[in-house]
Amino acid sequence: MRTLIKHALRSTDPMEAITISGWVRTRRDSKDFSFLEMNDGSCLANIQCIADAGIPGYEDVQKMTTGAAVTVTGRLVESPGKRQKWEVHAAGIRLIGEAPADYPLQKKGHSPEFLRSIAHLRPRANLYGAVFRMRSRMAQAVHRFFSERDFTYVHTPVITESDCEGAGEMFRVTTLDPSSPEKLDFANDFFEKPTYLTVSGQLEGEAFATALSNIYTFGPTFRAENSHTSRHASEFWMIEPEMAFCDLEGDMDLAEEFTKYLVDDTLNNNEGDLDIFARFVDKGLIDRLRFVSEKPFQRISYTEAVEILGKSGKKFDFPVEWGVNLQSEHERYLTEEHFNCPVTVYNYPKSVKPFYMRTNEPDADGRETVTAMDLLVPGIGEIIGGAQREERIDVLKANMQAHNLSETDYGWYLDLRKYGTCPHAGFGMGFERMLMFATGMKNIRDVIPFARTPGSCEF
Ligand code: 4AD
Ligand code: MG
Repeated sequence: MRTLIKHALRSTDPMEAITISGWVRTRRDSKDFSFLEMNDGSCLANIQCIADAGIPGYEDVQKMTTGAAVTVTGRLVESPGKRQKWEVHAAGIRLIGEAPADYPLQKKGHSPEFLRSIAHLRPRANLYGAVFRMRSRMAQAVHRFFSERDFTYVHTPVITESDCEGAGEMFRVTTLDPSSPEKLDFANDFFEKPTYLTVSGQLEGEAFATALSNIYTFGPTFRAENSHTSRHASEFWMIEPEMAFCDLEGDMDLAEEFTKYLVDDTLNNNEGDLDIFARFVDKGLIDRLRFVSEKPFQRISYTEAVEILGKSGKKFDFPVEWGVNLQSEHERYLTEEHFNCPVTVYNYPKSVKPFYMRTNEPDADGRETVTAMDLLVPGIGEIIGGAQREERIDVLKANMQAHNLSETDYGWYLDLRKYGTCPHAGFGMGFERMLMFATGMKNIRDVIPFARTPGSCEF
């Protein structure tokens, strides 16, 4: 029976028989024995194995180079070294798979760009092993958060005919053959109409919220948005809760509680992985996470945000005036410089937001806003976008008309208002953006196993 290294290192007692399988990180040889540092990805730490010359399998020890797969059987004994509590004294050692000298991860300290080009080997680098263990734990924390609050998990479709965000940034799904243009007619297409990869599960999520009350989706999302930034990916994962009988206030409360929960979980259940980010990626990480966990978030209206930005004395690339959408530079000023903490901005101008958001009463100056909200965090900007939804069928129809959406195509969505309509609200959190925030990693390509970005779809 194989023991994972994380369990071996946590052992409370020595063990007479233990089997460790993993990959050699380093090997040092003396005249009569060899030291092998082994890692199996179960935790950041390696386990040190001491193999005496002459034990079964030792004849292959010269082939147990960095990257080779090896199985060691022996005893788990207290280590005289300061750095580890336990080490393995091998009784036998077996070469499972060689790693020739061209193994790319020989040395430490490769650039993120180089490691992206070997994304299939990248999880074997310490930092990336930690990223992807964190990613897995955070995904499970997402499910725990919603399950503790009686939300039903819904799988919304990946292939869809609707453009939820109305930005037209969709990947088409088709079986039509572009080399026979005479047949490029949707009537001949697989679904007999234009279909796309989903940009959001929200609309379908609303159908389930108006039946099961509190639901969430957590799945892959696709955007054919030609944004070359460190925060945009063409394929990313989004978490979208939707709550019936809930207004904007309740929505903002949940968004803040959710963000804090994921930060707390990162602080409390990271099994040592957080240290590597704090040491090599972002020295202020742990203090910042503690701050976010303990301090209340700020909440301001869009109108207040525009006033703050106007008075900032800053020269922005995109000048700010009431009515424009906030750009990343504005969001970052608010959260990093002005408040220096997470900020929720709500009630945006109607003209810059999608059709489904609820229209507010015009303000004192007659300006129209919708119940949109964005949660902004230092270092990243927007990690959550959400809204209370328009539940009044007449207003919704008028909004759809203004956005050129057909009442036939969205007839099912209107039905949710026709039959038993109720106030409801929800939001979407970009999972990779949250992970960037929790790890301090600076590029979205480095927190997703195989990144898809404009011009790049390797592996
Ligand atoms: O603000 P967005 O576009 O909102 C929606 O899609 C709503 N339908 C969600 C809802 O109300 N149910 O996207 C939500 C979040 C953003 O705040 C951001 O964190 C992330 O998704 N996101 C991206 N993450 C990575 N790459 C991209 N290209 C992203 N676009 C949005
Ligand atoms: Mg948004």
